[in-house]
Amino acid sequence: MTSPEARRPIVAANWKMNTGPHDGAELARAVAAENLPFAQVDVVLCPPATGLTAVAQAVQGTPIGVGAQHVYWESSGAFTGEISVPMLTGLASYAIAGHSERRQLFGETDLDVQHKTLAILAGGLTPIVAVGESLDQRDAGATLTVLRTQITAVLEALSPEQSAASVIAYEPVWAIGTGRNASPAQAQEAIGWIRDTVAAAHGCPAAERVRIQYGGSVSPENCEELLGREGIDGALVGGASLDAAKFAAIVRAAAP
Ligand code: 13P
Repeated sequence: MTSPEARRPIVAANWKMNTGPHDGAELARAVAAENLPFAQVDVVLCPPATGLTAVAQAVQGTPIGVGAQHVYWESSGAFTGEISVPMLTGLASYAIAGHSERRQLFGETDLDVQHKTLAILAGGLTPIVAVGESLDQRDAGATLTVLRTQITAVLEALSPEQSAASVIAYEPVWAIGTGRNASPAQAQEAIGWIRDTVAAAHGCPAAERVRIQYGGSVSPENCEELLGREGIDGALVGGASLDAAKFAAIVRAAAP
């Protein structure tokens, strides 16, 4: 069902709660100075909110995209500490929704992720919707059910065109920040299930277009094996993305 030529790989850096405006801009300039295969791969940097302006300025005139790590779905109002999609105008063209750290540490629900994804799309940005199972869930054989539940909660609010235009990140919770990446076969299997779920909800054309990344301890050492697999359309990178040379190696490995 999948046709890899049709999908452009996308590698995104999730800097999490690291870097301020100054060192974030420096890191962005270091990434931009790497000789990256922009003709073949979409490259996105997701700094913390306080670094968005500086990073957007640092990558201006390059093909590097900027993404927010977190948004609230309302447009404006009395929501202390939150950032809306319209507030990202001119700064970001992507936003992450549903990261497992948001789900686990800040209580975000599947419905929250649905609202955020809709708001991101309505604002003309590309959502990077993160899903993934915990180790207990994997050990209990519940991975497929968990992924299907998380993805369906979002897809049911989207049109086929919206789901095709989204990016999904498969990030098994047990692989995040642990140094223990999913094996290429595990990642490929789970991503296949996610694509099947998109096909069931919105048909094969949407499933063939939606880009599905792998995330979780991606490194220069394991990226070729992971990103070489059919159906794995790039990576969402945490720790290794804080080092320009390591991140660049991962971007290069994503080029077809
Ligand atoms: P690590 O690459 O540090 O495991 O983080 C992955 C991640 O959570 C990206 O969103």
